[in-house]
Amino acid sequence: MCGIVGYIGHRKAVPVLLHGLQRLEYRGYDSAGIAVLDENKKQIIIEKQVGKVKDLQEYLWGKDINGSIGIAHTRWATHGPPSIENAHPHISKSGTIAVVHNGIIENYASLKEMLINKGYTFKSQTDTEVIAHLIEDLYDGNLLNTVLKVAKQLEGAYAIGVISTLEPDKIIGLRKGSPLIVGLGEGENFIASDIPAILEYTKKFITLDDEEIAVLTKDKVEIYDINGDKKEKKPFTVNWDIAAAEKGGYKHFMLKEIYEQPRTITDTLAGFFSNLDNPVFRQLDKIQNIVIIACGTSYHAGLVGKFWIEKYVKIPVIVDYASEFRYRDFPVSDKTLIIAISQSGETADTRFAAIDARRKGAKVLSIVNVVGSSLSRESDYVLYTYCGPEIGVAATKTFTAQLITLLLFALKSGLESGNITASEFEEYHKKLNHLPVLINEVLKEDKIIEEISYKYHNAKDFLFLGRGLNYPIAFEGALKLKEISYIHAEGYPAGEMKHGPIALIDENLPVVCLAPKDSLYEKMISNIQEVKARKGIVITLTDSEDKEIKELSNEAIKIPSVSDENLYPIVLSVPLQLLAYHIAVILGKDVDQPRNLAKTVTVE
Ligand code: G6P
Repeated sequence: MCGIVGYIGHRKAVPVLLHGLQRLEYRGYDSAGIAVLDENKKQIIIEKQVGKVKDLQEYLWGKDINGSIGIAHTRWATHGPPSIENAHPHISKSGTIAVVHNGIIENYASLKEMLINKGYTFKSQTDTEVIAHLIEDLYDGNLLNTVLKVAKQLEGAYAIGVISTLEPDKIIGLRKGSPLIVGLGEGENFIASDIPAILEYTKKFITLDDEEIAVLTKDKVEIYDINGDKKEKKPFTVNWDIAAAEKGGYKHFMLKEIYEQPRTITDTLAGFFSNLDNPVFRQLDKIQNIVIIACGTSYHAGLVGKFWIEKYVKIPVIVDYASEFRYRDFPVSDKTLIIAISQSGETADTRFAAIDARRKGAKVLSIVNVVGSSLSRESDYVLYTYCGPEIGVAATKTFTAQLITLLLFALKSGLESGNITASEFEEYHKKLNHLPVLINEVLKEDKIIEEISYKYHNAKDFLFLGRGLNYPIAFEGALKLKEISYIHAEGYPAGEMKHGPIALIDENLPVVCLAPKDSLYEKMISNIQEVKARKGIVITLTDSEDKEIKELSNEAIKIPSVSDENLYPIVLSVPLQLLAYHIAVILGKDVDQPRNLAKTVTVE
């Protein structure tokens, strides 16, 4: 993963780079570093720290680095543990070339051996260091040409940023598989892994496509393809501002993003209905099977989506982890529709699985939050979730938006294929419009959820149970808790519990039971009875007022009643997000940046 930022212009580079890194920390936070050309551009100053960007910031406090050209990096370790030596930027043997890198160089071992034989010594265990030495080794008096030559030797998916004392008035950015954007300013230009990193300075951007290289000077940006031919690329302007990427008074981004859901749901609905003529809906008569591929939270959204698509579109759906789907021989044809779900649109497993399937003839629809992201550009059709930037590593608002988008996709496709009528579709539209009100109701339970969190935050394990449409929500509840509190948690279809997990139940195990008053309510009650009979601690989420469930529950979280059971998965997601959030806060965990995780996983 990792985050890259680069600056060339009239300001001092260090504050710009540090700001940028802070906004990219969601991509990794094992170590951070900067490389800046000193004022007379004769030397590259490198500073690095293990830990977060704030550690680097404190370390740099009072140091007088005045240069206005630099590159910086925040790392999520792949090759070599977090350490000063392994932190980026990496510098070439003579100290003339500095490189930051996001991605993986698959053939780095053979390149390293070749460079060692030529007398280069390596200070780090990273794959990145080979790039710096290789540029130095192949330098032919033209940095652009040299980086292009180097790119031909590198295998893998990566984005890099390069500065050099040999050609000090430029930054080079190259993209091959990992994201990189260029920001265009007045007398200053930028590169970054993502827009929020530099949104404070400009709203005008160019997205690099794969195998494109940007040469930035203070006043100009030129884009070339991998063969060195110049390309014209049209900049685009973003219309959201930096406030969308700030905490806005909340203690954590995650809490802000949970509370944003009434608004993001409104935006997701409006976005979908403004895009009803999306060509994907005209393709459905050609489709015989649908495969949903995704990772993490997006995968859980896909599991719910399967229910809706099979019900309303009447086409069989398979849901698979993208990392698994890619490496099995699933028969794909031009009658297959792949739905690739990804908040970031940059997850390597999802992207490459989609690209492979498309190569085999399948059509790809992506459901993506980040506009212009790689996956959105590599798909035949796109449906955006319109949530704005999500900064907390654990996905929240984008999950509910993915659910809504999948439900709407199923309903609209159902309408197109004649499985539901126009008036039924309109009726669903109305029901969905009521969702923000329901989510506000759920948010009122926050205090109770916090109290429950206090009671059970010391539990060693948690079990989450749900049935039907809601069993994937049990998976998601368990994932949220694991991710940010580091408590072991499992999600299970409640009916399957008796085939194994029931052995885990004793008086110390909190079992979170999703028991909405839907068509499977009675079955769920039977499962709760089974938990209770084994002395498990029953925490129910329900809109039922029945005496029986009240008696069975050690704790109850109230959810609002809904007009249609399709809305339950969305409504139930929010209290589970709050439960995970509060438990993690009580345990003193880093909620927005949990250990070992990164928001955008651009490695396989
Ligand atoms: C990472 C994040 C998860 C996310 C998953 C898939 O593991 O920590 O929160 O669900 O990637 O990300 P995507 O951007 O493809 O939805």
